[in-house]
Amino acid sequence: MSLAPAADRAYFAAFLDLRGRPGVVVGGGRVAALKADALLRSGVRVTVIAPEICQCLTELALVGAVRLERRRFAPGDLVGAEIAIAATNDPVVNESVSAAARALRVPVHVAGNAALSSFILPSVIDRPSLQIAISTAADVVDRKRGFVSLVGAGPGDPELLTLRALRVMQAASVVLYDHLVSPPLVELARRDAERIYVGKEQDNHALPQAQINALMVRLAREGKRVVRLKGGDPFIFGRGGEEIEALLEHGIAFEVVPGITAAAGAASYAGIPLTHRDYAQSCVFVTGHLKDGSAQLDWDALTRPNQTVAVYMGVGALAQICRGLVEHGMRGSTPAAVVEKATLAEQRVVEGTLLTLAEKAKAGRVAPPALLIVGEVVRLRAKLSWFGATAPTQASSAREETTQGS
Ligand SMILES: C[S@@+](CC[C@H](N)C(=O)[O-])C[C@H]1O[C@@H](n2cnc3c(N)ncnc32)[C@H](O)[C@@H]1O
Repeated sequence: MSLAPAADRAYFAAFLDLRGRPGVVVGGGRVAALKADALLRSGVRVTVIAPEICQCLTELALVGAVRLERRRFAPGDLVGAEIAIAATNDPVVNESVSAAARALRVPVHVAGNAALSSFILPSVIDRPSLQIAISTAADVVDRKRGFVSLVGAGPGDPELLTLRALRVMQAASVVLYDHLVSPPLVELARRDAERIYVGKEQDNHALPQAQINALMVRLAREGKRVVRLKGGDPFIFGRGGEEIEALLEHGIAFEVVPGITAAAGAASYAGIPLTHRDYAQSCVFVTGHLKDGSAQLDWDALTRPNQTVAVYMGVGALAQICRGLVEHGMRGSTPAAVVEKATLAEQRVVEGTLLTLAEKAKAGRVAPPALLIVGEVVRLRAKLSWFGATAPTQASSAREETTQGS
């Protein structure tokens, strides 16, 4: 019995480290742009050769991402190249690229023609790239005069970043990030991007807000493409509005990329639907951050029936908030939970009622970032909890649970 693989599956799978190495893309259209983009994202120094070049590639060249040679391909173009891709609509040119590459022992891929290729590209690569190439034009124009993307990084799990957030992070030359943005997320920025921690733990700002605003403005004025990366969603208790106002005042172009807010992330990963036809037809997001030592909340609005209340920054005032809700008419037996470090492997959920939760959270040393969820929907967690293994934290008959992500 032969151990050799069937001829049509005889590819040897490998990942090439081509960072900083020269590569050639022959072709100036959309497919060539996609291939160039895939190479760029692996750090290849790309030269594009074609007599006619599409807008996308032209703009990539304008910002120095690729080198353009507006002419026909010549076999000598591949001397020194470490990878070559032909993506023209002229079979003769594609064939000559393939022949030249093989003669020089340069790995070559001809789009849509495996017979002329010495390697194939998995089609999955093309899908995200497609979007990148399509939206590159607008981005590159903006990059020339500085641009700020206010980006929501989501609640913690890097996989909850949106595709758009990832794309702008990979295009940015500077990333200003907050305390709540987890380190693996910051790592998703372009390899050579400058990463600046601007902090903002409650009451412990690495940079005061005014300085963060000034820094964004200065970097954008230097022509940089800046990502301002914030935990959750920038427009939900994230001061995103204030930062955008500062940019507007200085005439800086910007965009806002929404993120998954902590309430959505915490609720999903704790198995607590924020709304449910049987239990809650509305949900309010509120900050529990103390001002002058007291949680100044609209208690009447919070204690409406058939509603879920999600409290951000409520750990410090947990006892006051739970007490206030009861004093303003909520039943003491209303279920409530705090979700600490939601969506991360270390996520913990402490569950109780308005009468018991504060004590349990204290005993369990719940610390920020944590989100308080109050309402009948919390009961559903008993059925719907799915994230990680569940183990009791204390020998207690009361319902207190710690969920560790696996
Ligand atoms: C300044 S607010 C920022 C909210 C953020 N813009 C958002 O949309 O999620 C910070 C608060 O969000 C909540 N939070 C953020 N990330 C969290 C997480 N991973 N788990 C639990 N709560 C979180 C906590 O209540 C924390 O105190």
